[in-house]
Amino acid sequence: KPDSNAKLAAGIEELVDAEAGNIDRRIFWDESIYNLELERIFARCWIFVAHDTQLPNVGDFLTTTIGEDAVIVSRGEDGKIHTFLNSCTHRGNRVCFAEAGNSRRFTCNFHGWSYGLDGSLKNVSRPQSYSGKSNLDKSKLGLHKARVESYKGMHFACFDPEAPSLEEYLGEFRWYLDVILDNDEGGIEFIDGNIKSRLKCNWKFPAENFVGDSYHAPWTHSSALIAMFGKQPTMRPDRSYHANANGHGWEFGLDFIGNAATLNSPPIIDYLREQEAKFAERLGKVRSRMVGALSSANVFPNLSFLAGHNTFRTWNPKGPRSTELHTWVFLNANAPEELKEEYRRGVMLTFSPAGVFEMDDGENFENCTAVNVGVVTRQQQLHFGMGLDSKIEHEELRGNVYQSQINEANQRAFYQRWADLMGAETWADVPVR
Ligand code: FES
Repeated sequence: KPDSNAKLAAGIEELVDAEAGNIDRRIFWDESIYNLELERIFARCWIFVAHDTQLPNVGDFLTTTIGEDAVIVSRGEDGKIHTFLNSCTHRGNRVCFAEAGNSRRFTCNFHGWSYGLDGSLKNVSRPQSYSGKSNLDKSKLGLHKARVESYKGMHFACFDPEAPSLEEYLGEFRWYLDVILDNDEGGIEFIDGNIKSRLKCNWKFPAENFVGDSYHAPWTHSSALIAMFGKQPTMRPDRSYHANANGHGWEFGLDFIGNAATLNSPPIIDYLREQEAKFAERLGKVRSRMVGALSSANVFPNLSFLAGHNTFRTWNPKGPRSTELHTWVFLNANAPEELKEEYRRGVMLTFSPAGVFEMDDGENFENCTAVNVGVVTRQQQLHFGMGLDSKIEHEELRGNVYQSQINEANQRAFYQRWADLMGAETWADVPVR
């Protein structure tokens, strides 16, 4: 079981005082903390690997990473989604070099061992050379598999056999995810194509930005918002919230349609208005107002989404100061075909590497990381204290709910979950929050 630094783990408490909103900057820079994250966060948690519509047929596959572990995600002959290490059990060579495709086997180009769609070892080259004592037990030499569980078409993988089920892991946040995944009986589909880009930042800066940082939007994106719309969007404290459960969080207003990413595209606005009654029937009035709202969210640790903007993205760590961003565009599978292009265009103009909002954000994330090169700088604390007394009871909203979208409650919950996992020996020591 991967866990190499118990002493470092014991000191995590001193670095994160999520309750008071004080976070030590070393968690964004230090190599040993990063290595512990790979073990205790990424090798332990449920990590999003694919949506069902990306792999519709037997043999469809894609390659991605869980932490820094390269994995293949494929639809097996049993029709199920499998996830396993993309590293041969003979000498460890990468088995699959393609980003996506359809295959019957994954064959290693070093000595020719070949693996099935479920990762099992099917054949080796020159099998006659493995005679007598050197006989191979192929049943023990498959590619190392992760658990795979799904929630409404979203497939997650986990390398920790002791982790709770995906359902428990998501907890109350499933109720919020349904706003996106279940506002229509057809569910969602991912539009073909996945944009990958690199940011020179620690992966936590963008994840915590999406979990709850509406505060930055009117300032960081001021010029873009004014150029595009002539004014700032309205965020009313009395009609907006932070909500979180188990470190997953969503910040949102109940304004139904106010999104910027689709540039207020008339066909999208018309579609959302036509469907509003149906959304309310499936989700209730409050959640129906979140479908197209100006909002952002993150499923711990690294799956972010924008509701009205219709993009999912993952922040894949590549060292403590580098992150690979994977971006997808989604829409309701039953939505009119012409909306695909409208949503795709909206995301490209705003939250793609060339998009106006993403360029604004990326510069901030990179500078927040890079400045910690200073040895004195990196020993300082960061302040996450906004809204410390904003927790409320809401008659409909679930999980932990806080008044006002301009808040830092979700960021504190994100870092509390991070600290819980980093400090825990096993999942049994991780509290439900
Ligand atoms: Fe893959 Fe030898 S390393 S077959």
